[in-house]
Order: sequence, then C-alpha cells, then structure tokens
Amino acid sequence: MQTITLGDGLETSELGFGAMAVTHVYGGTDDDSALSVLNAAIDAGITFIDTADVYGAPTPGTDGPAGTNEQLVARLLADRREDVTIATKFGITGRIGPDGDVGVKRTRGDAEYVRHACDASLRRLGTEVIDLWYLHRRDPDVPVDETVESMAEMVTAGKVRHLGLSEVTATELRAAHAVHPIAAVQSEWSLWSRDVENQVVPACAELGVGFVPYSPLGRGFLTGTLTRDQVSADVRGQTARIGEQWDANQRALEVVSGVARRIGATNAQTALAWLYASGRRSGVPVVPIPGTRSAARLSENAAAVDVTLDDDALATLDSVVETVTGGRNIVDDPTWISSGRE
Ligand SMILES: NC(=O)c1ccc[n+]([C@@H]2O[C@H](COP(=O)([O-])OP(=O)(O)OC[C@H]3O[C@@H](n4cnc5c(N)ncnc54)[C@H](OP(=O)(O)O)[C@@H]3O)[C@@H](O)[C@H]2O)c1
Repeated sequence: MQTITLGDGLETSELGFGAMAVTHVYGGTDDDSALSVLNAAIDAGITFIDTADVYGAPTPGTDGPAGTNEQLVARLLADRREDVTIATKFGITGRIGPDGDVGVKRTRGDAEYVRHACDASLRRLGTEVIDLWYLHRRDPDVPVDETVESMAEMVTAGKVRHLGLSEVTATELRAAHAVHPIAAVQSEWSLWSRDVENQVVPACAELGVGFVPYSPLGRGFLTGTLTRDQVSADVRGQTARIGEQWDANQRALEVVSGVARRIGATNAQTALAWLYASGRRSGVPVVPIPGTRSAARLSENAAAVDVTLDDDALATLDSVVETVTGGRNIVDDPTWISSGRE
C-alpha cells in the first residue's frame, strides 16, 4: 500500500484502521482475536491505527475515559511501534458504554485537562510519543483555539507529533489552524453522511489540512452485511437512520449494492473508493479508517485503494444521499457534530 501525506507533513498509509470496535461496541470480541486483527492490519500495509482514550468498556464504579482500547493497542505497539502511525483522541470525559450507554457524555478542553489527558494516553499506549493527537469533541466552555494552544504545548514538549480535530466546524478549524498547523480533521464522511462537504471539506482544501473520514462504511450499514437484530443490540440502533429508519434506508443500500455488482467490487470497497474520488475532486488528501473485527475483511478493504469508479458509477453513488432518511448523530444533542453548529 502506498503512503499519502495529510496536513502538516504527516505521512500515513492510504487506508487506516479504526480500532474502536476491537473493544466491545459493535458486538463482541476478545483481546486475543482483536490483537491478531491489529497485527493483520499492519501486515496488510494498513499502518495508520486510530484509537481514543474513551474507547472500550469503562471499569465499573469509575468515571472518565475507559482507556481499555488504548491498552489493547499498546500490546501491538509493544512489538511493532516502528511500523505504526498511532492516532488517539481526548476530550470526551463521559462514558461510551458497551451497552450503548451514550447518555452521560461530557467534554473538557481546559489546559489542565489537556496535560493530564496527554500523559494518561501516553502511559496507556506505552509509547513516548503520539503521532497524531485529536481533540475528540470541543468543550463548549473553552474556545477550540484555546484548547489547541494547550495541545501545541504537548508538541513542544515532544509528547505529540501532529494535531487533529474531530467534528469541528470550518470556523473552529480556521481559528485552531491559526494557532498551530492541523494535520487532519476526523469527522463522519461517507456516501450517506455528506454534510461536511458544505464547509469543512472546502476549509481543509483551503488550509492544506487532510481529512480522515470516520464511519466510512456507515457503521457497517452500507456494506449490506448487517442485520436488524444485530444493530438493535448495540449503539447503532440508537441512530435514527440505522434504527427507526432501517427499512426506509434499504433503498440507499440497494443503490450502493447495484453499483458494486456492476463494477465487480464489494459494497465496502465501493464506499471507500467513493471517498477517495470525493477527496480528489475536493482537493483534500483523504484517509478513511474503516473498522472490522475480521482479518479477511481487512484485505478486502485494503483492495479498495485500487478500485476505480467510472463517471456513471460516481454519479449514481452521488445520488445515494438523496434517498437517506434520519440524521447521523448518535447523541441526542445537535451540537455534538459539526453540522449542528454550522
Ligand atoms: N471521531 C469520532 O467521533 C468517531 C466516531 C465513530 C468512529 N470513529 C472512528 O472511525 C472508525 C470506523 O468507524 P465505525 O467503526 O463506526 O464504522 P465503519 O468503519 O463505517 O463500519 C464498521 C462496521 O463495518 C463492518 N465491516 C468492516 N469492513 C467490512 C467489510 N469489508 N464487509 C462487511 N462489513 C464490514 C464491521 O463489522 P465487523 O467488525 O463484523 O467486520 C463494523 O460493523 C472507528 O473504529 C473509530 O476509530 C470516530
């Protein structure tokens, strides 16, 4: 797999790996099989690994970020640190529980917490430096540029190499980038989540910031392999478009499946190829981070970098979003995602 340069000179593999679900969130897994999937990602050339301090099951009776996903990724880094570009995030202090408990979320972006969060992630990851460190969600009580000023101190201290932001508006991105170069924005972007194209993606193009689309497979929905029972049992059933609008959104899925069949690719490859094409036409380097608990699916997803979409396929895929009903927000708070504040 080739490398790609995001903003601020950060080089990564063209495809990344979203490690969120290697600890329990979309169905079960165990640490040993999760570790073998992480190793298989590196073996397949997918060396850009995405985690966050809040991923994983919280320890009962404790508050704050769980940290167990970072601890699992640490087992990979212990053997293969030199092979990995490690990205993690901080800022969400509440729980994202394994049982879909997304009710108790808070955020912090004050200087004291920034320092604490950085040291805690370094300790859990067992590494001396974080390659890409994102603010996961902005703190409504602290301007993003102030939080980035504190994050920049971690770069100066040699604890972090590059800075990123998740679910920021174009205005927040511009303010932050004026304080310290931002290597990447990580927000939801996929065939059925395209609100970032209005303002955030153009701002990335203008500022030379890379884009890391999260949930690039629509949390699995766009692959056509999920069942309704499966998503009802986890947090995905709480999103309007995967939960209550499951039936209505089968139309969108049929369009994706139709294109995939015609071009001889899988749905997952088609969805990822559309993101690469969208990055090219927007003038933004794009590195999607699909997650999977299956080594076989890793090689399938990695092959997406070689899938090309003809004009007809691209136009048909562009129309998918028009058929989608239900919002993408997983939290009952419109300001949790960038489009809710734009
Ligand atoms: N910044 C943020 O706020 C934020 C929010 C959400 C996610 N993220 C990041 O983005 C990453 C990816 O997002 P995501 O996990 O929500 O969604 P996703 O990557 O769009 O979809 C993951 C789902 O797709 C399935 N899948 C993967 N490859 C497949 C294939 N080739 N064929 C069929 N099914 C396939 C997986 O199932 P199996 O596991 O069964 O294969 C899983 O259920 C996360 O791991 C996390 O790092 C960030």
